[in-house]
Amino acid sequence: MVTISSMLTINQPHIPDFTNPLGLLVHCHERIEAQLSALERTAEILSAGDTRSLPPAFAIVDRACAHFATPGVKHTEDEDVSLFPRLRERGGTAGQDALAAMTELESQHRTAEQLHAEFDELVGRLPRDGSADAKGLERFNELVTELTTLYRPHILLENNLVFPVAARVLPASEIQALGEEMRARRKDILQRLDVSR
Ligand SMILES: [Fe+2]
Ligand SMILES: [Fe+2]
Repeated sequence: MVTISSMLTINQPHIPDFTNPLGLLVHCHERIEAQLSALERTAEILSAGDTRSLPPAFAIVDRACAHFATPGVKHTEDEDVSLFPRLRERGGTAGQDALAAMTELESQHRTAEQLHAEFDELVGRLPRDGSADAKGLERFNELVTELTTLYRPHILLENNLVFPVAARVLPASEIQALGEEMRARRKDILQRLDVSR
Protein backbone atom coordinates (compact mmCIF):
# COMPACT_ATOMS: atom_id res chain seq x y z
CA MET A 1 0.00 0.00 0.00
CA VAL A 2 1.30 3.47 -0.84
CA THR A 3 1.19 5.66 2.27
CA ILE A 4 1.66 9.40 2.62
CA SER A 5 4.87 8.82 4.53
CA SER A 6 6.24 6.64 1.75
CA MET A 7 5.13 9.22 -0.84
CA LEU A 8 7.16 11.79 1.05
CA THR A 9 10.27 9.83 0.10
CA ILE A 10 9.52 9.60 -3.63
CA ASN A 11 12.61 10.77 -5.53
CA GLN A 12 14.47 10.68 -2.22
CA PRO A 13 15.22 6.97 -2.07
CA HIS A 14 17.57 7.04 0.90
CA ILE A 15 15.21 8.76 3.36
CA PRO A 16 13.82 6.31 5.94
CA ASP A 17 10.11 6.36 6.82
CA PHE A 18 8.17 5.70 10.04
CA THR A 19 8.81 1.94 9.79
CA ASN A 20 12.46 2.78 10.53
CA PRO A 21 12.08 5.42 13.26
CA LEU A 22 15.71 5.34 14.40
CA GLY A 23 16.84 5.87 10.81
CA LEU A 24 14.35 8.69 10.53
CA LEU A 25 15.77 10.34 13.66
CA VAL A 26 19.26 10.20 12.10
CA HIS A 27 17.82 11.78 8.98
CA CYS A 28 16.27 14.54 11.14
CA HIS A 29 19.79 15.17 12.50
CA GLU A 30 21.08 15.62 8.95
CA ARG A 31 18.38 18.23 8.34
CA ILE A 32 19.30 20.02 11.60
CA GLU A 33 22.97 19.99 10.58
CA ALA A 34 22.04 21.51 7.20
CA GLN A 35 20.23 24.36 9.00
CA LEU A 36 23.18 24.93 11.34
CA SER A 37 25.60 25.12 8.40
CA ALA A 38 23.25 27.58 6.66
CA LEU A 39 23.16 29.73 9.81
CA GLU A 40 26.96 29.74 10.00
CA ARG A 41 27.07 30.98 6.41
CA THR A 42 24.53 33.73 7.13
CA ALA A 43 26.55 34.86 10.16
CA GLU A 44 29.50 35.42 7.80
CA ILE A 45 27.29 37.28 5.30
CA LEU A 46 25.74 39.53 7.95
CA SER A 47 29.17 40.34 9.38
CA ALA A 48 30.49 41.20 5.88
CA GLY A 49 27.78 43.88 5.64
CA ASP A 50 27.00 43.54 1.93
CA THR A 51 23.43 44.92 1.82
CA ARG A 52 22.61 43.11 -1.47
CA SER A 53 23.18 39.78 0.27
CA LEU A 54 20.93 40.60 3.22
CA PRO A 55 17.50 39.58 1.77
CA PRO A 56 18.64 36.06 0.77
CA ALA A 57 20.60 35.73 4.01
CA PHE A 58 17.56 36.63 6.14
CA ALA A 59 15.43 34.26 4.05
CA ILE A 60 17.81 31.48 5.08
CA VAL A 61 17.67 32.59 8.71
CA ASP A 62 13.85 32.61 8.62
CA ARG A 63 13.84 29.12 7.12
CA ALA A 64 16.17 27.87 9.84
CA CYS A 65 14.03 29.45 12.58
CA ALA A 66 10.91 27.84 11.08
CA HIS A 67 12.66 24.48 10.92
CA PHE A 68 13.71 24.59 14.57
CA ALA A 69 10.25 25.86 15.61
CA THR A 70 8.27 22.95 14.14
CA PRO A 71 10.19 19.90 12.81
CA GLY A 72 12.90 20.58 15.38
CA VAL A 73 10.41 20.66 18.26
CA LYS A 74 8.79 17.44 17.04
CA HIS A 75 12.21 15.80 16.85
CA THR A 76 12.94 16.74 20.47
CA GLU A 77 9.55 15.33 21.51
CA ASP A 78 10.34 12.12 19.58
CA GLU A 79 13.33 11.70 21.85
CA ASP A 80 12.06 13.11 25.17
CA VAL A 81 8.58 11.59 25.04
CA SER A 82 8.83 8.52 22.79
CA LEU A 83 12.40 7.17 22.74
CA PHE A 84 14.15 7.99 26.01
CA PRO A 85 11.34 6.73 28.31
CA ARG A 86 11.22 3.44 26.35
CA LEU A 87 14.96 3.05 26.65
CA ARG A 88 14.83 3.77 30.39
CA GLU A 89 12.07 1.22 30.85
CA ARG A 90 13.31 -1.50 28.52
CA GLY A 91 17.03 -0.81 28.18
CA GLY A 92 18.11 -2.86 31.21
CA THR A 93 21.80 -3.02 32.04
CA ALA A 94 22.74 -2.91 28.35
CA GLY A 95 21.51 0.67 28.30
CA GLN A 96 23.42 2.00 31.34
CA ASP A 97 25.73 4.24 29.31
CA ALA A 98 22.78 5.37 27.28
CA LEU A 99 20.82 6.11 30.49
CA ALA A 100 23.53 8.48 31.71
CA ALA A 101 23.75 10.05 28.27
CA MET A 102 19.99 10.61 28.10
CA THR A 103 19.98 12.71 31.28
CA GLU A 104 22.62 14.96 29.75
CA LEU A 105 20.82 15.02 26.39
CA GLU A 106 17.54 16.07 28.03
CA SER A 107 19.34 18.88 29.81
CA GLN A 108 20.83 19.96 26.47
CA HIS A 109 17.34 19.95 24.92
CA ARG A 110 16.26 22.51 27.52
CA THR A 111 19.37 24.64 26.87
CA ALA A 112 18.67 24.50 23.12
CA GLU A 113 15.10 25.70 23.73
CA GLN A 114 16.41 28.72 25.64
CA LEU A 115 18.95 29.50 22.90
CA HIS A 116 16.30 29.21 20.18
CA ALA A 117 13.95 31.52 22.12
CA GLU A 118 16.68 34.16 22.38
CA PHE A 119 17.73 33.63 18.76
CA ASP A 120 14.13 34.01 17.48
CA GLU A 121 13.67 37.17 19.53
CA LEU A 122 16.94 38.63 18.22
CA VAL A 123 16.14 37.75 14.59
CA GLY A 124 12.71 39.39 15.03
CA ARG A 125 14.20 42.72 16.06
CA LEU A 126 17.36 42.87 13.89
CA PRO A 127 16.96 45.51 11.17
CA ARG A 128 17.16 43.86 7.73
CA ASP A 129 18.39 46.89 5.78
CA GLY A 130 22.02 46.80 6.88
CA SER A 131 21.53 49.15 9.83
CA ALA A 132 21.90 46.47 12.50
CA ASP A 133 24.28 47.60 15.23
CA ALA A 134 27.51 45.78 16.04
CA LYS A 135 26.11 44.53 19.35
CA GLY A 136 23.15 42.81 17.66
CA LEU A 137 25.34 41.23 15.00
CA GLU A 138 27.83 40.09 17.62
CA ARG A 139 25.06 38.40 19.61
CA PHE A 140 23.76 36.80 16.39
CA ASN A 141 27.21 35.30 15.77
CA GLU A 142 27.53 34.18 19.39
CA LEU A 143 24.15 32.46 19.35
CA VAL A 144 24.93 30.65 16.08
CA THR A 145 28.19 29.46 17.64
CA GLU A 146 26.42 28.41 20.86
CA LEU A 147 23.79 26.48 18.90
CA THR A 148 26.32 24.67 16.70
CA THR A 149 28.56 23.93 19.69
CA LEU A 150 25.58 22.46 21.53
CA TYR A 151 24.00 20.49 18.68
CA ARG A 152 26.99 18.86 17.01
CA PRO A 153 28.29 16.73 19.93
CA HIS A 154 24.67 16.17 21.00
CA ILE A 155 23.83 14.68 17.61
CA LEU A 156 26.99 12.55 17.62
CA LEU A 157 26.10 11.13 21.04
CA GLU A 158 22.59 10.24 19.91
CA ASN A 159 23.72 8.79 16.56
CA ASN A 160 26.67 6.85 17.92
CA LEU A 161 25.50 5.72 21.37
CA VAL A 162 21.80 6.15 22.13
CA PHE A 163 20.27 5.05 18.82
CA PRO A 164 22.51 1.98 18.40
CA VAL A 165 21.69 0.90 21.99
CA ALA A 166 17.99 1.43 21.27
CA ALA A 167 18.27 -0.65 18.11
CA ARG A 168 19.94 -3.42 20.12
CA VAL A 169 17.77 -3.56 23.22
CA LEU A 170 14.29 -2.43 22.22
CA PRO A 171 12.00 -5.20 20.97
CA ALA A 172 10.55 -4.83 17.49
CA SER A 173 7.12 -4.01 18.96
CA GLU A 174 8.60 -1.00 20.82
CA ILE A 175 10.44 0.22 17.72
CA GLN A 176 7.16 -0.03 15.82
CA ALA A 177 5.33 1.88 18.58
CA LEU A 178 8.05 4.56 18.46
CA GLY A 179 7.48 4.96 14.72
CA GLU A 180 3.72 5.18 15.18
CA GLU A 181 4.09 7.90 17.82
CA MET A 182 6.41 9.84 15.50
CA ARG A 183 3.88 9.50 12.70
CA ALA A 184 1.04 10.70 14.99
CA ARG A 185 3.15 13.68 16.04
CA ARG A 186 3.29 14.75 12.38
CA LYS A 187 -0.39 14.10 11.66
CA ASP A 188 -1.04 17.78 10.95
CA ILE A 189 1.80 17.96 8.41
CA LEU A 190 0.78 14.69 6.75
CA GLN A 191 -2.85 15.81 6.52
CA ARG A 192 -1.84 19.12 4.94
CA LEU A 193 0.21 17.24 2.34
CA ASP A 194 -2.73 14.93 1.67
CA VAL A 195 -5.14 17.87 1.10
CA SER A 196 -2.73 19.65 -1.22
CA ARG A 197 -2.47 16.65 -3.56
FE1 LIG B 1 18.33 15.28 21.10
FE1 LIG C 1 18.19 14.25 18.16
